Amino acid sequence: MEAFAKSRISRRAVVFVLTVVLLVNFYLFWYGWPSNLNPGLESHSEPQASPSESSIEEIWTNSTANGSDLTISVPEYHAPNSTPLADRQADFIQHLFKQLNENNPQCRNVRVDEDTGGIEFDAVNDTPRPNYIVREDEMREPLAKAHRDFVAAIQDFDVSKLPYNSGTRGIISSAGGDYFPTFVTSLRMIRRTGCTLPVEVFLIDWSEFEPYICEVVLPKLNAKCIVLAEMIEKAHFPKKNIPQLKGYQIKPFAMLLSSFETFIWMDSDCVPLHEPGTLLDSEPFTSTGLVTWPDYWANTVAPLYFNISLQPEPPMTARQSTESGIMLVSKQQHFLTLSLSTYYNYYGPDYYWALLGQGAYGQGDKDTFIQAAAAVNAPFYAVSEPVATVERPVRTGKMGFAAMVQTDPVQDYNLTSQGLWRVKNSSVAPAPRAFFVHASNPKFNAAGNILEESSRKDGKPGRLWAWPEDVTRRFGYDAERAYWDELKTVTCTLEHAFFSWQQKSGLCEGVQRIWEIAINNPDAPIPGFTGEAPVDFNTSTYASILTSVLNKDEQLSSHHLPGFKRDLGL
Ligand SMILES: *[C@@H]1O[C@H](CO)[C@@H](O)[C@H](O)[C@H]1NC(C)=O
Ligand SMILES: *[C@@H]1O[C@H](CO)[C@@H](O)[C@H](O)[C@H]1NC(C)=O
Ligand SMILES: *[C@@H]1O[C@H](CO)[C@@H](O)[C@H](O)[C@H]1NC(C)=O
Repeated sequence: MEAFAKSRISRRAVVFVLTVVLLVNFYLFWYGWPSNLNPGLESHSEPQASPSESSIEEIWTNSTANGSDLTISVPEYHAPNSTPLADRQADFIQHLFKQLNENNPQCRNVRVDEDTGGIEFDAVNDTPRPNYIVREDEMREPLAKAHRDFVAAIQDFDVSKLPYNSGTRGIISSAGGDYFPTFVTSLRMIRRTGCTLPVEVFLIDWSEFEPYICEVVLPKLNAKCIVLAEMIEKAHFPKKNIPQLKGYQIKPFAMLLSSFETFIWMDSDCVPLHEPGTLLDSEPFTSTGLVTWPDYWANTVAPLYFNISLQPEPPMTARQSTESGIMLVSKQQHFLTLSLSTYYNYYGPDYYWALLGQGAYGQGDKDTFIQAAAAVNAPFYAVSEPVATVERPVRTGKMGFAAMVQTDPVQDYNLTSQGLWRVKNSSVAPAPRAFFVHASNPKFNAAGNILEESSRKDGKPGRLWAWPEDVTRRFGYDAERAYWDELKTVTCTLEHAFFSWQQKSGLCEGVQRIWEIAINNPDAPIPGFTGEAPVDFNTSTYASILTSVLNKDEQLSSHHLPGFKRDLGL
């Protein structure tokens, strides 16, 4: 009897446990994991004040009360979380991807039988346009048809439903993985110029979402992470048709899906030397709505491309190829341009990158923007002043590449609109000031090669943007020091905070050592230094903000939810 009762109890217990397990599974199946296990999914809703966040607020307020001047006029930033915008984005994604998929060129991939490599740009002497496309006659009609149909289809999109908030401005970038530390350092450089524009940083998918950086660090700098995969999922696009976008294919998609109507695109390793927002109120941007900067090389678009896109073939002297690390774009004026640019990048690896570059160095999204603008007959301004290079002495004793220097477009336009083309004859006017530096190698990421690459032949560290002086003088102030100061602050306050830094050690120490020997050293020469930093350049304000917000181990650990990637099934 007793045994019977016992077994009945244990049977009941088993049934009860099984029922609970089933119910829990059922719940999880339909509703997913509770969102606190899944912080990323909350990124578009209003932030909940968790204990750690309120303690950050306290630190923030207290240090303000303590008398240190922490006031920065960063306007409150509402990211694209309004329902209408999200709906418009979803509609647009559906429309765009439908058209992208339906207008696949019906021919074999574009191949070249020789790479153009690095043909130097010559603005004076015209040369025949290179033509290395293999069997172009077979491909002309299929490519032209798909191009024509796609251009016709995107014109059908209802312009009253374009996916951005009217009248908004901001800065867009993409980061993720190894690029994140560089992005945060560059973002602080943006803030040092006095620029308070909101920033949206695009990540490809949830594996790139870093909760601590995205939810604690970036909001304090008026910046926000946007996960592209989430937007695409929200559009309920049929799974089999969800595109696998990689690397710089995402650039035009990010531009189209950002909430800003007007924006500055900056690669994570690009920094402004002056307040970049001013460029949006000046010519040449105000009349064209699209400004690009040059690469070193000639524009080597294939003749076949001009034929299929129904454009006249420009002379080789017309303009350089584009270096798309920085761009100014008005979506209101260039919606078709960006849509066509997504087509060129979606079909980039198989067709358009080869058509637009023919194996040129750095071939990729570069020329997809101005060629798309030209194809839809929209105006643009390609800065004419050639990209300059700053170099550094390397271990072999020779000079090595350090960064690309791009010019103030307002000053460039001032000259060209008077018929003064320095690119044809550099004696006609002095060089305009530098406005952006694209520090592509080494990048300002302490875990990359910057520490190693700062060493000279004798093993001692030295400046990276060291030479030539006629270029560094165009910075107008010691811009390299500014970037190093930010690198030091970011490295030493966020030492283990980035996913890609978690296993690294000695990063802060390494940066500090170089900073003391090469940067903060009165005996070390400052190349080309001629003046004071811009007026808004207030190091201590920004440094103290970041320091007060960060360096709190407990905050850090509370945002590093172990297994969070696994919970998302990534
Ligand atoms: C380019 O395209 C036009 C039609 O748009 C065609 O008439 C012309 O023959 C083409 N040019 C070449 C070189 O094939
Ligand atoms: C060009 O610059 C000069 C001197 O800085 C200025 O006076 C002039 O108005 C500018 N012209 C244009 C077209 O912006
Ligand atoms: C370049 O410009 C300078 C100054 O205007 C002029 O003296 C010189 O002749 C020009 N050179 C050429 C090759 O046109």
